[in-house]
Amino acid sequence: MPLFRLDASIRTTGSASREIADIVEAEWLRAHPGDVVERRHLGTDVLPADAWPLAVAASATAEPDRTPEQRAAAKLAATLVDELLAADAILLAIPLYNFGVSQHAKTWIDLIITDPRAAGRLLEGRRVVLATVRGGAYGAGTPREGWDHSTGYLRRILADVWGADLTVVEREFTLVGVNPALDAFTDVAAGMHAAARSAAREAGRVLADA
Ligand SMILES: Cc1cc2nc3c(=O)[nH]c(=O)nc-3n(C[C@H](O)[C@H](O)[C@H](O)COP(=O)(O)O)c2cc1C
Repeated sequence: MPLFRLDASIRTTGSASREIADIVEAEWLRAHPGDVVERRHLGTDVLPADAWPLAVAASATAEPDRTPEQRAAAKLAATLVDELLAADAILLAIPLYNFGVSQHAKTWIDLIITDPRAAGRLLEGRRVVLATVRGGAYGAGTPREGWDHSTGYLRRILADVWGADLTVVEREFTLVGVNPALDAFTDVAAGMHAAARSAAREAGRVLADA
């Protein structure tokens, strides 16, 4: 049974979330040699922004009365749910953007929730790893403590609403070395990077046991 991997970085090179997810995936493949990794890349294969309202309208409209656009949106939502339910293990790589959840990831979640199968605990007991990265740092006592409005939301949906057995791997300060204003944090960022890589290896081993 496959691993389903979702990426949401809008970058095509140099993605820190992809680096973490690659480590998790490699650990999973080590335990499942030759197994399939099914992929969806929300950053480069963007879900249409109007699919969600169309799918909501479809769910409130009897099948014979749906427009072709509503039918297509409902079918897309069903495909997203099929991808999750076909997987033994699930790996999501989602960065923080503008202090909130990636709009592509939000569209993915919103669409899934329109499918009748998501009315219950869609991922009950399934192992899910969320790899999330942030350019800045938001830990306790930092000036922007509490400004990350993505990770808590994703935990809420994946673990509390969908019932997944969730492991979160986080890396902060990915903009150190990119933004000169953060040069003072070079050593701290290097430590965070190493810790995230180590956490990713461990998360991959846990995921492989699924
Ligand atoms: C449009 C945009 C908005 C961003 N907003 C934030 C932000 O609000 N807070 C933050 O800490 N980092 C922010 N970042 C930095 C990203 O979180 C960081 O570069 C991260 O590594 C991106 O993920 P990736 O490396 O997988 O592409 C932003 C980056 C972009 C491109």
